[in-house]
Order: sequence, then C-alpha cells, then structure tokens
Amino acid sequence: MYSGIYPGSFDPVTYGHIDIIKRAAAVMDHLIVAVLKNNGKTPLFSVDERVNMLKEVTKDLKNVEIMSFSGLLVNFAKEHGVKVIVRGLRAVTDFEYELLMSQTNRVMDPDIDTIFFTTDLEYAYLSSSIVREIASYGGDISKFVPECIQKQIKDKLSK
Ligand code: COA
Repeated sequence: MYSGIYPGSFDPVTYGHIDIIKRAAAVMDHLIVAVLKNNGKTPLFSVDERVNMLKEVTKDLKNVEIMSFSGLLVNFAKEHGVKVIVRGLRAVTDFEYELLMSQTNRVMDPDIDTIFFTTDLEYAYLSSSIVREIASYGGDISKFVPECIQKQIKDKLSK
C-alpha cells in the first residue's frame, strides 16, 4: 500500500492545505494528515480542535486519516509504517526550509523521502497566520477557508 504523511500546524486548515490533501490523496492509497502538537508556535486552536476541523473538511475523502503527533516526524512515520512525507511548496521562499527539513529527515531516517506538491497559484500567498490576522480585524476570509472553518475562527476570536 502506498501511504504518505502530510504534517503541519493547520492552525487553522485553509483551502491551500485542502488542495494539497486532495491532490496527495488522489495519487496515494492512504494519506495521514498529521497535526503537530509541540511546534513552539502559540496556536489559536487546540490540537483537538485542529484535528476536528481537518476531519470535517476531509470527511468525503475516504483514504484520508487525521491524527496528531508530537516529537520527531520520522519517528511518527516509522510507527505508522509510512516512508513518504508530503509537503506543499508555495513559493521559492518555502524551498530552502523544505529542502533542509527533507534532507535532515533523511539523515535521521534514510528510508524516508519527501515529495512536494506545488501549491495551486490561487493559494500561493496563503498561510494560516494571514487568515488569523485578517479574521482578527473582522476581514472577509471566505476566499481562504471553508464556511465551517470561518465560523469556528469567528467564534474563537470573539471569546
Ligand atoms: N496552503 C496554505 N498554507 C500553507 C501551505 C499551503 N499549501 N503550505 C504551508 N502553509 C503555511 C501554513 O499555514 C503555515 O502558516 P503559519 O506559519 O502562518 O501558521 C506555514 O505555511 C508553515 O507551516 P506548516 O506547513 O504547518 O509547517 P510548520 O513549519 O509549522 O511545521 C513540520 C512543519 C510539522 C513538518 C515540522 O515542524 C516537523 O516535522 N516537526 C516535527 C519535529 C521534527 O521532526 N523536527 C525535525 C524536522 S527536520
């Protein structure tokens, strides 16, 4: 079975992430979307909230499983018998960081490879923090996240 892991913070999941998830799931038998628990960023949403939001937006993708992880990604991949990491490349600026992560992961575990999907042009500028910032000023985020996520962001920010 050809499986992959798409890791990230997903705080919150955006259309850019959903685009990568759909395209990776279309060429793999099984895709684990893995929410990182301990990445040093101060998240808006708890891990459970992020996992649930991802479950909601991927409910029609039968070969996609949502999980969370802490610690090293290569260890999580090994525990689940997965050898392929999926990442999205939005712009050249992502490249250096992604190259470094991919190479470091291979040094830690030579069985692991990373494959990259170039982000759809429509979402090349998008990031979770941009969405959070626009929402915090009451801006329209309907082009960036699905309706169910818009509602959760608004609810969270109003607390
Ligand atoms: N569409 C929209 N946004 C995208 C995107 C896309 N296709 N691809 C990336 N982004 C955005 C994210 O929203 C995020 O935005 P933010 O910073 O505003 O929140 C940003 O790009 C990058 O975040 P993300 O993809 O979540 O990666 P990350 O840098 O937070 O985490 C991990 C990357 C999880 C893969 C990495 O930290 C990891 O593996 N950690 C585990 C510990 C480990 O093994 N470390 C050794 C690594 S060598």
